[in-house]
Amino acid sequence: MSDRTDLEPADLLENNRRWAAGKLAADADYFNRLQHIQQPRYLWIGCSDSRVPANTIVGLRPGEIFVHRNIANVVPHSDLNALSVIQYAVEVLRVRHILVVGHYGCGGVKAALEGTDLGEIDNWLAHIKDVWREHYDAVMALPEAERADRLAELNVIAQVQNVARTSMVQKAWAEGRSLSVHGWIYSLADGRIRDLDVTIAGCTDLHAVFRIGSDCRD
Ligand code: CO
Repeated sequence: MSDRTDLEPADLLENNRRWAAGKLAADADYFNRLQHIQQPRYLWIGCSDSRVPANTIVGLRPGEIFVHRNIANVVPHSDLNALSVIQYAVEVLRVRHILVVGHYGCGGVKAALEGTDLGEIDNWLAHIKDVWREHYDAVMALPEAERADRLAELNVIAQVQNVARTSMVQKAWAEGRSLSVHGWIYSLADGRIRDLDVTIAGCTDLHAVFRIGSDCRD
């Protein structure tokens, strides 16, 4: 592979020109169709890390997955950005699955564990530290080299809970719609995604504390 680190923005525009031309050559109606239809079945909530591109690693094409990414795939209860994405995906696009996807070797998780002063981002990483605090003894019982990857998994599990606790997801369940929230983790080392088996598919999977409305009973 040639050295791509010195690509300029103009080179990216040239790449784009060739990509669009290639698409049209294969299918003259390609963009016309995409322009009018967006019906993804999935919402991906993942890390901003450049090595974890959503569409690519699950083999989906443009139009097939709605994507939200931030540092260390965090879904804080009152983050207007994440909540807006979830509302649009659930209520307008009517996705059937929300995939919370963390990854091993996550820089955000490592930074939270190291506790170094990074400036404003420390306030964002505090969400990861909440998870670490909750599982402090279990994480610290591991060899140091394994702690970040375990915390990355625990963070996914916590964010699956946070997604399921939102009013939009619970409203979809109250309306009887099929909507599942999954927790996955991606390995940079082998390119594989592992299912953490923490899927939540209904309000009775939530602790009573977080249930909204009177429709949800065990
Ligand atoms: Co990351």
